[in-house]
Amino acid sequence: MRRRHKIAVIGAGMVGATCAHRVAAMELGDVVLVDTPEREGVAKGKALDLVAAATIKRFDARITGTADYKDIADCDVVILTAGMPRKPGMSRDDLISVNVKIVKSVSENIKKYAPNAIVIVVSNPLDAMVYTCWKVTGFPTHRIMGQAGCLDTARYRAFIAMELGCSVEDVQALLMGGHGDDMVPLPRYTSVHGIPVQQLLSDEKIQACVERAKVGGGEIVGLMGSSAFYAPAAGTVQMAEAIIRDKKRILPCAVYCEQKYNVGGYFVGVPCVLGGGGVEKVVEVELNEEEQTLMKSSVEQVKALVQVVCDTFPELA
Ligand code: 2OP
Repeated sequence: MRRRHKIAVIGAGMVGATCAHRVAAMELGDVVLVDTPEREGVAKGKALDLVAAATIKRFDARITGTADYKDIADCDVVILTAGMPRKPGMSRDDLISVNVKIVKSVSENIKKYAPNAIVIVVSNPLDAMVYTCWKVTGFPTHRIMGQAGCLDTARYRAFIAMELGCSVEDVQALLMGGHGDDMVPLPRYTSVHGIPVQQLLSDEKIQACVERAKVGGGEIVGLMGSSAFYAPAAGTVQMAEAIIRDKKRILPCAVYCEQKYNVGGYFVGVPCVLGGGGVEKVVEVELNEEEQTLMKSSVEQVKALVQVVCDTFPELA
């Protein structure tokens, strides 16, 4: 008989705990919420709180909190949210040196205790953290990916829906590149129930949605003094669900691209097929000259970030 799926969420902060809640509520499998020994109480406390919520909301998942990485053994999916979040005035890139250390140590434990897991990295700066996790674990590239595109596309779709006064459910869109302010929303691949968005909104209004999406994370940091967590967690669990339920969804994720989009061996946001095997395929869409230029400049930013990781931590080069 097939055993229940098991999902580890590393980091019991706002993003991690929200992921744990959604994973359990969707009954994707049992959840192990992990944090450092100093924060073991937070991991255990949030897990216990979720167990009580489960009895009222009637979701059947075993939820445990721990600081012991042995407990992530046999996980199918590991969601890595550990790291310092942004404070007002900080860019995602400002977090690099502190979060590389954290992600490096977590990745060593993932490699040791869950060597067959598929890993979804959420920590920022995202593109550099996926690289770090890949370098440390040495996992094949179809088993390492970063969450960014689901979140960034969701923000872009939400702004288009707000502008049109239509349901968010009807807005479909594609967004590529790194998870920085130079991400690349693609109006040519944006539609409202099949109707190209250009037929419904002026170029100026579309561009305003594009620009707002690009700095959407910073807008929330400015408003509440810390990073977003509902939408980042929703995007992450959308990916976990595609993997656990082998849905073969096409989602924008930070995945390893060599020749695809001429990336040259970096993790960047592109549309890919997510299923039981992890990243099952990178989908190549045609980009016009302007879109190619934007994508190239976003990839250059990702490369520069990875270079900072390699210069600061030569063992990761
Ligand atoms: C965001 O864009 C935290 O990077 C995340 O909100």
